[in-house]
Amino acid sequence: MTTVTLIPGDGIGPEITEAVKAIFAAAQVPITWEEENAGQTTFDSIGELIPASLLASLERNRIALKGPITTPVGKGFKSINVQLRQKYDLYSNVRPAKTTAGVKTRFDKVDLVLFRENTEGLYAGLEIFDERLGIADSISRVTVEGCHKIVRAAFQYAAKHGRSKVTVAHKANILKNAGRLMLEAAADVSKEFPSVPWEDKIIDNMCMQLVSKPEQFDVVVTTNLFGDILSDLCAGLVGGLGVVSGANIGDDMAIFEAVHGSAPDIAGQGLANPTALLRSALMMLEHMSLHEYANRIEAALEKTLLDKNCCTRDLGGTASTSEFAQHIISNL
Ligand code: NAI
Repeated sequence: MTTVTLIPGDGIGPEITEAVKAIFAAAQVPITWEEENAGQTTFDSIGELIPASLLASLERNRIALKGPITTPVGKGFKSINVQLRQKYDLYSNVRPAKTTAGVKTRFDKVDLVLFRENTEGLYAGLEIFDERLGIADSISRVTVEGCHKIVRAAFQYAAKHGRSKVTVAHKANILKNAGRLMLEAAADVSKEFPSVPWEDKIIDNMCMQLVSKPEQFDVVVTTNLFGDILSDLCAGLVGGLGVVSGANIGDDMAIFEAVHGSAPDIAGQGLANPTALLRSALMMLEHMSLHEYANRIEAALEKTLLDKNCCTRDLGGTASTSEFAQHIISNL
């Protein structure tokens, strides 16, 4: 048995983590959950946004599954997600986007994996506001090392999984330095992977190409803000935020998480789709080399998604979060 830290999170977080726990228990996955929370919930109960016990659990287990955490908009505390990514140098945000039979989309052959740099760029936390002049400076910090690390992660993934090419998305025509560092990193790192072709695309063109012909992309790598936006765009191509998975991976720790937020509009009503968190948990099992368990649950999930009646409302069904989980369990 391996112990995994489980962070239920806010809003729909507890409902979808319960669903994943039930499915994992039914599939007899050999892991033990160590539950710790963060954010507004723990702030209200013990006065800490990121409790020391959560950090201790992460440092002990080095692997976690995380539900969404609410972040105040335009005020309040800094995103817990961003803080954890930076504290543990989880530099690689991996977001697969693949069409699934049964999930209605405009495209039917999308199968790409986005690698978003997760700790630098405009999320480095370098913000200055001059109240007197009414000027806000948000500084994007991009480093040679950071670009090499994320680009290498993308090429390694492409080589390991026999992917056809890597696309580097950037804005080097305007951001002459920050953009150039990504391109130079790709040129350098690609020499280590001669069997993996690569290309570059300017980010605005990349968006247009993605929404008109997404099948042409395979592995995509980009800086933090572009990656944040592109990853939700890619989620939209394959059925929305309720069905796509995500992972934050560093050299010695990984936190797997649903890419959607805490969905306060539907929280506590049994309407949330647990697929995104479940798929993130399956990525975690792959990361832990528990492939057989991951494949078995994935097959049950795919079978369930084929029957609209078994699905949650966002997928056109009427099942509640826990009923959907029960259908997956009966398909195991
Ligand atoms: P959101 O992803 O929570 O919701 C956007 C829309 O998608 C809503 O209509 C919601 O009902 C729907 N939705 C999301 N997940 C769903 C699911 N599993 N099943 C069915 N429908 C689902 O984004 P929003 O409203 O922009 O953010 C709400 C809060 O979440 C904010 O505080 C934000 O900062 C936080 N957030 C946290 C993230 C994380 O912890 N990784 C990521 C994104 C946002």
